[in-house]
Amino acid sequence: MHSFSNLRIVQHPLIQHYLTRLRDRNTPSEAFAKCVEQVAALLVPESTRDLDLEAVSVHTPLEDYPGYRLAHRLVLVPILRAGLGMVPGFKHLVPDVSVAHLGLYRDEVSLEPVVYYKKLPADLRGRDLIVLDPMLATGGTACAAMQYLKERQPRSLRLVCLLAAPEGVAQLEAQHPDVPVVVAALDRELNERGYILPGLGDAGDRMFGTEF
Ligand code: URA
Repeated sequence: MHSFSNLRIVQHPLIQHYLTRLRDRNTPSEAFAKCVEQVAALLVPESTRDLDLEAVSVHTPLEDYPGYRLAHRLVLVPILRAGLGMVPGFKHLVPDVSVAHLGLYRDEVSLEPVVYYKKLPADLRGRDLIVLDPMLATGGTACAAMQYLKERQPRSLRLVCLLAAPEGVAQLEAQHPDVPVVVAALDRELNERGYILPGLGDAGDRMFGTEF
């Protein structure tokens, strides 16, 4: 058991199945990208559990029905580049979203977020944001993203990852205790190069076929 109050680990046999394929170094790039999409889709219900609904009446073929629809249009924020691989899985279940692209890192000296690419809705105030990044390793990028996005005053902000290292979860919890993190697995540790162990290697390289 872990002791992170901000962390939700989603357990499901399909997640174990696809995660194992992701970890397998013999899984080719195309199958890897598909498995990223599949695990991302399996994380959607937990990641969207507390979205607001509004009442809407429909007519069934037989009578009126007082139903619901999502009250607000969700904003997905894939962190470039590997976060892009999670977007199709989310859009499969929630097609009507804004996709806000964000490329950034945390400056090692100033510790300030450095944004090298952004294309976001002009006004994020009052929007629900789900940040997508397959690997929560040191937490540097995730913390930078949260700092950058919080300045834009969204209504809610959460992070969804495939794998997390305890070091990254701890860092995020320390700096952004109000941000929930949804993951498919919490791995053992980081190695000296910042890779998650046992992990799955470089998610971006494996998904886009740039590892060799
Ligand atoms: N990013 C990756 O793609 N893999 C890791 O193990 C850590 C960070």
